[in-house]
Formats: sequence, structure tokens, C-alpha cells
Amino acid sequence: MTNQSWWKSAVIYQIYPRSFQDSNNDGIGDLPGIIERLDYLATLGIDAIWLSPVYRSPNDDNGYDISDYEAIGEEYGSMDDMDRLIAEANQRNIKIIMDLVVNHTSDEHPWFQQALQGKDNPYHDFFVWRDTPNELESNFSGSAWEYVPALGEYYLHLHSIKQPDLNWENPEMRQAIWDMMNFWLEKGIGGFRLDVIDLIGKEPDNLITKNGPKLHELLQEMNEKTFGAYDVVTVGETWGATPEIAELYSKPERNELSMVFQFEHINLDKQAGKRKWDLKKLDPQDLHDVFSKWQIELDGKGWNSLFWNNHDLPRIVSRWGNDSEEFREVSGKMLAIYLHFMKGTPYIYQGEELGMTNFPVADISEVDDIESRRMYAERLEQGYSKEAMITSINAKGRDNARHPMQWNDTEHAGFTQGTPWLPAHPNKASINVEKALDNPASIFYTYQKLIALRKEKQVIIDGSYEIVATENPNVLAYTRTLGEERLFVVVNFSEEVQTYQLAHTEFKETLIHNYNTPITTTLQPYEAFAVEI
Ligand code: GLC
Ligand code: CA
Repeated sequence: MTNQSWWKSAVIYQIYPRSFQDSNNDGIGDLPGIIERLDYLATLGIDAIWLSPVYRSPNDDNGYDISDYEAIGEEYGSMDDMDRLIAEANQRNIKIIMDLVVNHTSDEHPWFQQALQGKDNPYHDFFVWRDTPNELESNFSGSAWEYVPALGEYYLHLHSIKQPDLNWENPEMRQAIWDMMNFWLEKGIGGFRLDVIDLIGKEPDNLITKNGPKLHELLQEMNEKTFGAYDVVTVGETWGATPEIAELYSKPERNELSMVFQFEHINLDKQAGKRKWDLKKLDPQDLHDVFSKWQIELDGKGWNSLFWNNHDLPRIVSRWGNDSEEFREVSGKMLAIYLHFMKGTPYIYQGEELGMTNFPVADISEVDDIESRRMYAERLEQGYSKEAMITSINAKGRDNARHPMQWNDTEHAGFTQGTPWLPAHPNKASINVEKALDNPASIFYTYQKLIALRKEKQVIIDGSYEIVATENPNVLAYTRTLGEERLFVVVNFSEEVQTYQLAHTEFKETLIHNYNTPITTTLQPYEAFAVEI
């Protein structure tokens, strides 16, 4: 790769269509709604949109259970709307990245319906069947095997019962997936985000799910048969990736993916060996160690993605910033500054640029998300207190990211005039797009500035990364260097005033700073800056 790929300087924005903008007041966000808001995204300055699934789906897992890969779900619009979205976005130099969910389909997909017809149906072998189940568990709690009495067999579902796993050993199944991917590539999309892609090389009999032996071979075949011939970005969701594994996926000469999402930092606030629900306070030093490790170990070998949020994660300002009135803005900016000067492709999740917060619930009846609900039922049986489970759901539940985008302070935050499928946050009056755009000091303009800086400064894209010791565990610092260009980034990851050793004192220019005070060796709560040295 001699010319720099476009996605190395890109910033990508994730839309969860169900919650972004409703255009026909049925309470569900849709494609025409996204089209209405493209100018807003152009103002922010992003290069591409990763669209969570909009395919036909019974929505057992909100679209991650697909019943027709080549049709748009009715609630989202039509294929004409999709074509229009691609065209309108392209006119604003924004590419559309589709979510590719091919570890499993919906049980309502015609392939699975055929598979149920009998063992000699050609589609039967598109899925994974066994006569007896083993101890494999579903990511959504309980056994990963479901019995079908008519066949006397169990099928594998690593997620919900309505998400049967595809059999990647079957070449006809793979060909059907390649055809579907090429259908989308021919429409002129900008790439794919590959859902739980590290599961496709599984060996269920050996209890291997993630990082199975055939995984990389399969991705090379996918690359060759589909997107390898296109100038697109591909990003894999890989919960089990280490830097060594990420190199396998993203080293250009291996012809697999552009990059992966790694989740090592995301796991830092859970108890070791337990699930995300088993909460632990984040130690900022752990975070800095993990980011630094990825920055250094993947450098020159593969490519990083950079993210705090997605549709499966709680809101970052509530999680590792501070969502109190006093500190929400400064901490939101601090988190953005810390992440956006690193090497890799940043992803912004809808509303992150406003500092949208978690949505606390008091009772399980307020929860939509299948993962939270399954955990609740399972742990109730195991004797956990309701209170403890609600605390976990409020901290980590996926609904936190799925409440409507806050556009203005009208009844449903400008998301819909109907009844929204999940309610808008009561804080919509103080946190919304209209207000953010009117306030030059809002978090929105910090993100806008960070995106613009990435386009101006090659050092942000290519510079080498060095960790800088500050003698204070709450003060995280690093430099980026490319030839003569050098950046120094310092953040106070706490709500207290901190002092630290200023490693570099000759500043050429302040690129960004979330306080209007001079830079000294004392940092205000969540103070953060980047300077040229
Ligand atoms: C991924 C998606 C998540 C979904 C799961 C099963 O983790 O991000 O939303 O539930 O895969 O498809
Ligand atoms: Ca709608």
C-alpha cells in the first residue's frame, strides 16, 4: 500500500438507526430520518457513517438477527431510501459502512426455515447441528444449544435462540454470503463493520468459539471474493483480540481487514474472570497502560481503531467521565482529547459529541435490551438481589446507548412526534444538538476541532507514540512524533485538582485545551490539553 488509505485519516460516526431520527412518527428512527440529518454530520466533519443493521429482521436483538440481508426492514424504509441515503451521503463526502452480521442469521431467515424442513434439505447444513449438546454457553446467558424435536437435533446459537449460528465450514453457505456482500459493494457502500467476526472460525466440539483455527483463512477468502477489489474500509468486532491477533487481521499484506475493534480497555472496569455486570472501579493507570500497549505494539504492523462507545456500551461520560452538571462538559472534552490524538481511526457514537449520559432505570420493566433481561432472569434464579442487578444494568446495560438522540428540548427530544420506542432522556433540555450548536464552548465543537486537526496534522495520523511519565497516576500523558512535528497531550483523569511534572515546557502552539487558563503544573478537574512542542 503506497498511497495512504482514506480510512487512515478518517473519523467514522456510528448511527443506531432505531434511535437516531424518526421521520414518520411511528416512534422508530428510519433512513429518511438519517438523510434529514446528514447536514448536521457534515458540520461535525465526519468521513463515514457506520450504520447499525437496517435489514429485515424480527428484532429479537434489534436488527442483529437478520431475516433478509438484501431487504430493508419496513420500519426503516425501503431499498430506494437506502440508495438515496448512499447517494446523499456521498454528495457530502460521507461514505456508508454497512453492519455485516454473518456469524448468525435470524431463525426467521428462509435459510433456517428451509433447514428445519429436514436433514437432507440443502440448507440444513448452512447451520450448526449436533445430536447432543455440550456445555457451550450463549453470550446472552444459558445454553448455546436449542433442541428441535421434529429433527431430534440441537442447533448452535451463541447469542439468542432466535440467532442460529451459520456453518462456515459449508462452501455453499460461504458463496451465498459472498454474493450478498457483493450485492452491497456494487451499490457503492464505503465498507463493512463485521459483527462478532472472531466467532466464525469456531470449533464447537472443542469448545472453541473465539479465534478458531480457520478464522484467518476464512477472512482471506472473504477478502478475495468480495471487498478485496474495492477501496473500502473493513472493521471487525473482535472481543478476543490481543495486539498479536490484531496484527493478523490488519497487516495489509495478509489481505484480511483494515482494522479491528479491540475491547481490552472496555474490560478494565469488571472483576477479573467475571462478567461485565460484576463492577469494578476503573484505575486510570490501567487504562493508560492498555492504550499505550496497543499504540506501541501495533505500530507499523497493523492499524488501530479508537473508540469509547458503541450501541453495546454505556455512555462514556457517565462511565469514566463525570455526568454531574459541574463536570460533564469538561470531562466529556477530556475523554475526547485523550483518545483523538492517538494513532488509529476514531469512531464517534451518536450523541457522544453532545456528552449524552446513561439512562438510569428503577425496574427491569423499563429495560428493552435482551442481554440485560436475560442476565436479570438468570441471576434472579441464582439468588442475586434485584437491587444489585439494577445497579449493574444502570452501569453497563446496552439500553444506555439506545435512548433517542437528543436534537432539541421538545417532548421527545426532536426524535419523534409519536411515541418513541424507548423514552428520551429527561436531561434533553440541557443536552441537545440545538443547544450544543449555539454554544461555541460545547463538547460538539471540541469533537469538530479534533476531527479538523486530524485532517491538518499528519503527525496525528502517522506519528510514533511515546508514553510520558507524570509521577501522578491520575495524570495521563503522551507524545506523538513525526520528523520535526511533535505533540504533547496531557489529561487529568480525575475530578480533583492534580499536580504533576511537566515533561515538556517549550510550547509552540496550543492545539486544544478544555479550560481557558494558562497551562501550568497544576491541573483543574478533568483538565486536558494538546500542544505542539
Ligand atoms: C455484536 C453486536 C451486538 C449483538 C451481537 C450479536 O456484539 O454489536 O449488538 O447483540 O453482536 O449479533
Ligand atoms: Ca419511523
